[in-house]
Amino acid sequence: MPLSGRRILLGVTGGIAAYKSAYLARRLIEAGADVRVVMTRAGTEFLGTATMAGITGQPVTTDFSVDGSSVSPHTDLARWADLIVIAPATTATIARLAVGLSDDVLVATVTASTAPIVVAPAMHTEMWEYPATQRNIARLTEDGVIVVGPASGDLAGGDVGSGRMEEPEVIVEVIVTTLSSSLSGVSVLVTAGGTREPIDPVRYIGNRSSGKMGHAIANEAAARGAKVTVVTTAGVELDRRIEVIRVETAQQMADAVATVAPDVAIMAAAVADFRPAQVSSGKLVRTDGPPDLELEPNPDILMTVSQRRVRPFLVGFAAESGSLERAAEKAVRKGVDLLVANDISQPGSGFATDTNQVTIISPDGTSEPWPMMPKTEVASRLWDLVERRLSTR
Ligand SMILES: Cc1cc2nc3c(=O)[nH]c(=O)nc-3n(C[C@H](O)[C@H](O)[C@H](O)COP(=O)(O)O)c2cc1C
Repeated sequence: MPLSGRRILLGVTGGIAAYKSAYLARRLIEAGADVRVVMTRAGTEFLGTATMAGITGQPVTTDFSVDGSSVSPHTDLARWADLIVIAPATTATIARLAVGLSDDVLVATVTASTAPIVVAPAMHTEMWEYPATQRNIARLTEDGVIVVGPASGDLAGGDVGSGRMEEPEVIVEVIVTTLSSSLSGVSVLVTAGGTREPIDPVRYIGNRSSGKMGHAIANEAAARGAKVTVVTTAGVELDRRIEVIRVETAQQMADAVATVAPDVAIMAAAVADFRPAQVSSGKLVRTDGPPDLELEPNPDILMTVSQRRVRPFLVGFAAESGSLERAAEKAVRKGVDLLVANDISQPGSGFATDTNQVTIISPDGTSEPWPMMPKTEVASRLWDLVERRLSTR
């Protein structure tokens, strides 16, 4: 069954199409899902809670104090749900969702959740076409909410036009597709780009990393449905679903990484091992002669993540010029699950190119050289491999 073991929270709001929600709940259960229902107050005027409780075998949540079992239903439900679907979604609920107005338990649950959200609007054509509704829908789409429909056809009261709630079968299909995104529900951290270690206000010690490899990995993870955070020094545009933290120095990168607790961490950034011990507050001038540049070590970000008590599946990167032996030794020393080594002395491989030739090294000593290919393809193959490793973990 396509939704076996999946936990779907169904939100029902106050529209005529609420009668179809009962059928949608049944279809979800038939597809193997565990379904719970939240209804707005207006929703309960269109469809009885007893109907939904009967279909799902679960109490229906209608306010912040449902039953004795939970003191915080919105956060409990938010944590429980693999996906939230709101069908039908009224103009009022769409407006509240668009601005995050959590004054009912349904919108509060959505704002407390990191799960994918599917919304099936249902309303009269004029309400659908009303500029604010269109603006709110555009905002929700921008925020990553999946909007299904509305369809065109017969509406309540004998009208015909667009605004009809999409059929439950279509909504179930969208839910199946959304949840079968292979990294759905997985949180991912990617570091990317080369750090810059200031010498004075205008100069820095840097490296040639462009961030292209890390960004390709992050975009691929987002396309596979992961919740992605990127800590990057590069200014390249990323998939809009990705949370981006821009940094410059290794210390800033370490601090940003420390705020994220992902399931998978892919550390593709080229982090400076050392930084100037003293940063001059004024620009150094030629007439003072060559500066005495004393260096001190930067934090070892990869090692810090590897030593976390709750450790993510960890992929490190090693740029080596010449032998890959040192990379193999690094895989063991840094305690990574996989190490992606690239020989940057090869033409078409390494920094600022669109292609890469990498060797995948496992801590057990096995290594697999991959052919030269676009970085986007390296990213895709890398995620295929990580997914296989995660499934056998
Ligand atoms: C008979 C009737 C039918 C309604 N149908 C819809 C509808 O299909 N879509 C809609 O957006 N609002 C509809 N409304 C208005 C909503 O019920 C109203 O905006 C309510 O405040 C929505 O609250 P909720 O979004 O919290 O459920 C209808 C109202 C009535 C009285």
